[in-house]
Amino acid sequence: MSDDTATLKLGSESYEFPVFKGTQGPDVVDIRKLYGQTGNFTFDPGFTSTASCESALTFIDGDEGILLHRGYNIEQLSEQSSFMEVSYLLLNGELPSKAELEDFSYTISRHTMLHEQLATFYKGFRRDAHPMAIMCGVVGALSAFYHDSTDIADPEHRKISSHRLIAKMPTIAAMAYKYSIGQPFLYPDNDLSYTGNFLRMTFGVPAETYEVNPVIERAMDRIFILHADHEQNASTSTVRLAGSSGANPFACIAAGIACLWGPAHGGANEAALNMLREIGTPDRIPHYIERAKDKNDPFRLMGFGHRVYKNYDPRATVMRKTVREIMAELKVTDPVFEVALQLEEMALNDPYFIEKKLFPNVDFYSGIILSAIGFPTEMFTVLFALSRTVGWVAQWNEMISDPGQKIGRPRQLYTGPAPRDYIPLSQR
Ligand code: SDX
Repeated sequence: MSDDTATLKLGSESYEFPVFKGTQGPDVVDIRKLYGQTGNFTFDPGFTSTASCESALTFIDGDEGILLHRGYNIEQLSEQSSFMEVSYLLLNGELPSKAELEDFSYTISRHTMLHEQLATFYKGFRRDAHPMAIMCGVVGALSAFYHDSTDIADPEHRKISSHRLIAKMPTIAAMAYKYSIGQPFLYPDNDLSYTGNFLRMTFGVPAETYEVNPVIERAMDRIFILHADHEQNASTSTVRLAGSSGANPFACIAAGIACLWGPAHGGANEAALNMLREIGTPDRIPHYIERAKDKNDPFRLMGFGHRVYKNYDPRATVMRKTVREIMAELKVTDPVFEVALQLEEMALNDPYFIEKKLFPNVDFYSGIILSAIGFPTEMFTVLFALSRTVGWVAQWNEMISDPGQKIGRPRQLYTGPAPRDYIPLSQR
């Protein structure tokens, strides 16, 4: 914190508000007393200039293209760490010792199974239901099965429901995929890694032994690391707001999944690959770039732009490198990758994108990798939700543990009708 202040002049009055400094990033002006002192609200639709909370989890520098989790940069974590280790780091604040990591991984692996009755929920959906609709439904339903861990005031309850959510998301996601293709569900195999277990539940069949490809396992684990947490994005803010009312963690994560689904947010990975496929060949790129620049055309380059990154999204850099590795390992090519590379090149040299600081984001390349591994596009946001669950859970825990936490309740600028009297129907 600091002893700086900001002065606000309203009419003939001046008001002082404290300015706080964080470890890194912009200072904040504490306006919690603004309405009480001035009778005015601030006005910030979309929260472009608003810090909604204090957090020690993730730091983003949008101008420098920096992403840190508990101080460690995403480049080092994605190259040297694992999703289980990054999950431990986000939840506990420090990198684990070997014994701590083994204990954490063991604990998570003991929660990978779903209550058997939850499997029947899938049968209520059409086979062609979007897997994100299934995720919203099944994750929300978890609170109907795990009453023994929904007392959010109890740190032990918070801990076990956090572990249950992290552990069960791969099982729920894999079951959503199996259901959509009419194949039987596979139970978890806890002799495998977290990510290997997910790959086997997704692509394995009861009739055969499934061998986890270590290169795919590593690429998938890296993709999970890249999506784990990202400061106060829309879905994380949704989870925090839902949690601020005291809602149970399963309901809060279901709310986060619903928000992530939007194409402006986590749904962009599915939309980006569909866009690249629609473009189809490099000669059609200029037409789509012109459409993206046309104010009268709602079309946007999916996987481009970001509220915070006004430089390259560091996750996109890692993702692009991983595409090359997976293509080489699987000995596959995908014309869409060439379209993506040329689209990026042309857009980054176009004055419109340069002036608006629009760069590829995490969603631009991820779909190419996921498609090469064998996932249908409808599963892409499910994978984003699977990974982001640890971030949502860590942010939720941080909020609930904050002694100053209170229910989130924004105000508004009212521009509706002034007070008027009711007109009886006979006179209308
Ligand atoms: C994620 O917040 C997070 O951290 C999210 C995320 C995470 O890990 O949680 O990083 C994950 O959601 C990544 C973003 C995925 N979404 C997309 O790729 C969809 C396409 N991108 C856009 O819709 C947009 O860029 C957003 C939603 C990502 C950001 O929107 P902002 O910050 O509200 O910016 P904006 O819409 O006001 O755009 C600023 C200008 C506008 O032009 P003007 O009105 O000023 O003339 O840039 C233009 C926009 O029209 N613009 C684009 C564009 N994105 C913004 N023009 C063409 N193509 C685009 N993709």
